[in-house]
Amino acid sequence: MYLTPFHAIDISNSTFLITGGAGFVGSNIAEYLIKFGAGKVRVLDNLSEGKLQNIEPFLDLPNFEFINGDISNSETCQKACEGIDYITHQAALGSVPRSLETPLLTNEANVTGFLNMLTAAKDAKVKRFVYASSSSVYGDSLKLPKVEEHIGAPLSPYAASKFVNEVYAGVYALNYGIEVVGLRYFNIFGPNQKPDGPYAAVIPLFMDALLKGKSPFINGDGEQSRDFTFVENAVQANIRGMFSQVPGASNRVYNIAFGEKTTVNQLYFDLKDLVGSEVNPTYRDPRKGDVQDSLADISKAKAYLGYNPQVSIKDGLEVTLKWFAANYGPTR
Ligand SMILES: NC(=O)c1ccc[n+]([C@@H]2O[C@H](COP(=O)([O-])OP(=O)(O)OC[C@H]3O[C@@H](n4cnc5c(N)ncnc54)[C@H](O)[C@@H]3O)[C@@H](O)[C@H]2O)c1
Repeated sequence: MYLTPFHAIDISNSTFLITGGAGFVGSNIAEYLIKFGAGKVRVLDNLSEGKLQNIEPFLDLPNFEFINGDISNSETCQKACEGIDYITHQAALGSVPRSLETPLLTNEANVTGFLNMLTAAKDAKVKRFVYASSSSVYGDSLKLPKVEEHIGAPLSPYAASKFVNEVYAGVYALNYGIEVVGLRYFNIFGPNQKPDGPYAAVIPLFMDALLKGKSPFINGDGEQSRDFTFVENAVQANIRGMFSQVPGASNRVYNIAFGEKTTVNQLYFDLKDLVGSEVNPTYRDPRKGDVQDSLADISKAKAYLGYNPQVSIKDGLEVTLKWFAANYGPTR
């Protein structure tokens, strides 16, 4: 991955903090920054969902540091921000169903933790604070494609937490002058995304089942659609979000997606072909809190960040499948 860099400046003297850097998206950002010679990469993660294995190759590098800590502790956040130029904040408890089961836990990580990090970033006078928001903030709005200004009411505690992040980021930018960039991810997939645990996402679940010859569940009739986005494109958005000097680029939120609509059925049958499987899915009741359709207008990220998603869904699925086969395949 990452044949050419997404940034044009020298980063060998810059310091980066990735919260949630042992998780799926965060570890991919770490890989990019290490590959292109960042001065220092610090990861803060409590390993509640992330895996040390995702950052294993970097642990002994002189420009890499891992802090095993929790963002719900404000002192930990203050310490983690010391000497840092740029922050990309990925730590959060993902998953709509989890947030419906344990809303207080979601709030602690996603709202209290977020505010702790934003405050620590302001106090440390970082150059920019990029953070992961979510397409779930579009809530009950049926409008397609999704345009940043037009959101609906949140449908889950998770969506509410991400909406609150955006509100706080705006308030801190206004009052304290901190530069913030919010990225509303749309269904990111790729290597390091885990298929295990009760809250796994659809692509790892499908891949895991298909590789093991099992029938995966599809919630509802499978005609719900998503704008599936390969992780390398999300990494690009983070890098461009940290460095874009286009006037007006900071203090905004951006849709980060590929810009193409795929139904869950289409996704399943494409993957089934890729694997060469004969197994059909098992349909069950739709899930609470889920939106029916999702498709992003990515023109703002293109204009302000220079975001240009390079990896198609099909190419991304191939790379991801290879990774899954090596890490979770039947012989593992
Ligand atoms: N993956 C997606 O499709 C998607 C879509 C929309 C938004 N997002 C957001 O993107 C970000 C990254 O998601 P991901 O898919 O990589 O999830 P992930 O669960 O793989 O990574 C999140 C990381 O945060 C860590 N973490 C959780 N709570 C913490 C806490 N209190 N203190 C310290 N670390 C903590 C976890 O251990 C994990 O390593 C999250 O904010 C998520 O809400 C992801």
